Amino acid sequence: MALVVAQYGQGGPEVMRVEEQEVAAPTASLVKLEQKAIGFNYFDVLQRKGLISPDEPGRVMGIEGAGVVTEVGPGAEDFAVGDRVGYLRSQGAYAAARLIEADLLFQLPQDIDFEIAAALTVKGFMAWLCACRLFEVRRDHTVLVTTAAGGIGSLMTRLSAYLGARVIGVVGSEAKRGLVRDSGAIDVAVGIDEAFDMVARITGGTGVDVVFDGIGADTAERLFTAGAVRAGGTVMAFGASGGWPKADADAVAERGFTFLAPQALTYLKSASELRAAMAEVFTLFRDGAFGAVSPTRYPLRDAVRLHQEVDSRATTGLSVLVP
Ligand SMILES: NC(=O)c1ccc[n+]([C@@H]2O[C@H](COP(=O)([O-])OP(=O)(O)OC[C@H]3O[C@@H](n4cnc5c(N)ncnc54)[C@H](OP(=O)(O)O)[C@@H]3O)[C@@H](O)[C@H]2O)c1
Repeated sequence: MALVVAQYGQGGPEVMRVEEQEVAAPTASLVKLEQKAIGFNYFDVLQRKGLISPDEPGRVMGIEGAGVVTEVGPGAEDFAVGDRVGYLRSQGAYAAARLIEADLLFQLPQDIDFEIAAALTVKGFMAWLCACRLFEVRRDHTVLVTTAAGGIGSLMTRLSAYLGARVIGVVGSEAKRGLVRDSGAIDVAVGIDEAFDMVARITGGTGVDVVFDGIGADTAERLFTAGAVRAGGTVMAFGASGGWPKADADAVAERGFTFLAPQALTYLKSASELRAAMAEVFTLFRDGAFGAVSPTRYPLRDAVRLHQEVDSRATTGLSVLVP
């Protein structure tokens, strides 16, 4: 039997239940994992609230983690008992042990520990995808990062500063201002309205080169119309903490903005793409591009407490659950 956290109904953390589940022996190309660390993602919150997936009573929460292979199915040729592995995009991560398709796994390099892997897989990938691939942040860029004290936001802030850009971070409360300044943002605004004034002052009214936005909803449109993005600039709406991102096509076309709403899974269709991307993320980590990565640990059986703290916007940075 393995400890799991499952969701019964949709809504607040009260729909989460800590229980025990049987984990079968792996068949076909499945692998059994003893999980060592589980990555918290805001996706888990959107799913709990019913904003991202249909209701499925008893669904084990979570989509990323890291652990040790304890059994392999006959078709899981690339893996052996004792391998240290990580994964993303596989439902059922809030569990002490689980089955998973071998194609979704990557081998963990010896110098990457389980908690770093669980914290960085989705979030490090998104930061790398947005700041190094879809838009290439450079020394002469001014970058605006919303949800800058959050998981992906804190990595985006550090990565953009590492790449030499001038970073303006946006947070939801005064308490988070100092934290974001410490992670490389030269200026930190509390709320979007303060960010408009700051951008106008810093860029002399021109607007920033790129916005990495984790809030979603109408943030992008507000940034366009307030002149916070330069003509021909980019808005990368990677998150939906405040609602699904939207942008008025006329406003985008009129000033030649690029508006992207990238989804991790669109760029990770195969095992080889996943493994190559993770190699890039771990190289950046070793180079110090994400700064000192030190996720906050919560016991798996305290997942409800983590979700309560997230709902009250009290968490900062990266969080992991440890079985
Ligand atoms: N595109 C993809 O493939 C992909 C992959 C992973 C995650 N995401 C998205 O990326 C975003 C960040 O994910 P994360 O895991 O790193 O989460 P997170 O940043 O740890 O938490 C979300 C942040 O959003 C802010 N927030 C919370 N509720 C809000 C609300 N109602 N309105 C406005 N802001 C709110 C909070 O910051 P403040 O209190 O400082 O405002 C909080 O730090 C999420 O929206 C998530 O869904 C997208």
